[in-house]
Amino acid sequence: MCGIVGYSGRAAAAPLVFAGLKRLEYRGYDSVGIATLDGNNIQIIKKQGKVSSLENFVDGLSGNTGIGHTRWATHGKPSDINAHPHACGKFAVVHNGIIENYAELKARYFPDISFTSRTDSEIIVRLLDKFYSGNLLQTLKEVSSLLKGSYAVLVICADFNGFAVMKYKSPVIIGGGRGESFAASDAPALAGLCKKISVLEDGDFAIVSAHRIKIYDNNLNPVVRQKIINHATAASLDLNGCAHYMQKEILENPTAVENTVKAFSRVQGKLKEVFTDINRVIITGCGTAYNSGLVAKRYIESFARIPAEAEIAGEFRYKNPVITSGTAVIAISQSGETADTVEAAKLAKSLGAKVIAVTNAPYSALTLISDVVVPVAAGHEICVAATKSYTGQIAALYLTAKLLASFNKKSAVRLMKNAKAEICSVVPLLKSTVAHTDIEALAQVCARADGVYFLGRDIDYAVALEGSLKLKEITYIQSEGYPAGELKHGTLALIDENKTAVVIITDEGLSVKCENAVEQVLSRKGKVAVITNVKECAERLKDEVPVIEIPACPKELSPLLSAAAVQLLAYKTAIILDRNPDQPRNLAKSVTVE
Ligand code: G6P
Repeated sequence: MCGIVGYSGRAAAAPLVFAGLKRLEYRGYDSVGIATLDGNNIQIIKKQGKVSSLENFVDGLSGNTGIGHTRWATHGKPSDINAHPHACGKFAVVHNGIIENYAELKARYFPDISFTSRTDSEIIVRLLDKFYSGNLLQTLKEVSSLLKGSYAVLVICADFNGFAVMKYKSPVIIGGGRGESFAASDAPALAGLCKKISVLEDGDFAIVSAHRIKIYDNNLNPVVRQKIINHATAASLDLNGCAHYMQKEILENPTAVENTVKAFSRVQGKLKEVFTDINRVIITGCGTAYNSGLVAKRYIESFARIPAEAEIAGEFRYKNPVITSGTAVIAISQSGETADTVEAAKLAKSLGAKVIAVTNAPYSALTLISDVVVPVAAGHEICVAATKSYTGQIAALYLTAKLLASFNKKSAVRLMKNAKAEICSVVPLLKSTVAHTDIEALAQVCARADGVYFLGRDIDYAVALEGSLKLKEITYIQSEGYPAGELKHGTLALIDENKTAVVIITDEGLSVKCENAVEQVLSRKGKVAVITNVKECAERLKDEVPVIEIPACPKELSPLLSAAAVQLLAYKTAIILDRNPDQPRNLAKSVTVE
């Protein structure tokens, strides 16, 4: 949420900052702004709207140093005035995060001044201006000591030919070389610009100019932070002929799964160590990551027979969880940045749990506090709605559960080999699902519906929740995921001719029971479609309702295929309704505030 980019070098800063913001737009897209420094002169342009709103103004900004921001509003509605950068005196800043005590600080230090914007962020620039002593680093330290909340802040100061950085709980990476330096929230912004990037840690500051990057810890001691390879390249961010990133990323599901299986071998040994003496597992995450946790709960309980619970991270934190040294907490997060998930993992760790991160982001806030990181090798995911990261997570969690199940078994090595082979055998089926599933007719029905209910039992219910989340987030159609058996205990009251039920049936044993739900909806004049890989079920229902057939596969791996089908359904429905699937209203991909 909110993307920030900084540049100092030989080139004109504004076009480079603008290009970086475009690549970070998935982090927020309600307003945008850039500030440049030319000599001692700070120039600012900012607008409500997407990054492209600045397109015609970028060339008007001169100077070789610049900072920029693409916003996901928290405090203060999207508007030109609330857009970043915010400026005061010799300073301009962009901020990602939330300053929780901004009202208190304003009352204390600026009781008689009315601020220009309604944002929490303006307090930062006001404080910088107030406490500026001529020593930029000292001033940053002084101001940061007053702030509560989370912040990744880039600062330009009229006295310094470069920019400065403050970081706490919101991500910042820095890279440079050949007379140019960059900072950003996330690696894609620096695609093709920096091969190696340093990941700042909480409490860090940096003073960045064209030829020099100096990083300091919270005591202002110079430090060297871990350098990682920037895998984001211009090519990896290309649409490859697709109309949207969502379409491209759905097509990348098979590669995400395949690469995740390969990557698992790297951590198998370490994961085994961490899992020693574990007698209970709690899985946590938000949004799609939580939904993949629901699948993982089923894997862990049925393969390893170890009690497992899935908890929404934002709830887990506040429920005084029971944790012992025998508890493993699996924290799932595509970005590794989601504040609630990171805080849940921290809490679990402080209570003595082993923490396992399952993430796309190998160097993120989440991985820094985890005992082991299980990689999801899905590559960069740009569309706000998660697709390939979900199936990647399912693959990683399947193998994680199989590893737990292999403990103390003589056949452990074979078991893991088989588990990997099982997933690999589904990859071609997944390829065929993403390429050939004909979902258009059902998408037309959903696009006209007043409400869509996704129904399923057991593992299909877990996928139903993900199907519902996908549909609501990118089409804005009211949608719910429900256990098929629970329908008659309340939701049936909502069914009429304007409602549609999408029933997922991949378990032969539960098929007949799920078909009851189909009949119950039809009897109330609701519309029904079925997504299934149970041949007999398809035969029984095909004359009655639209049936979307997906390939048959081992029961536990069906979420890989049924999820791809519901992703396609959401995508096609969004297209019919002329919604932008990549940038749904009000949402952002990485939610770094609580
Ligand atoms: C946001 C996104 C969702 C995502 C969730 C968790 O709400 O819009 O698509 O599932 O965050 O993100 P994470 O990066 O932790 O998986």
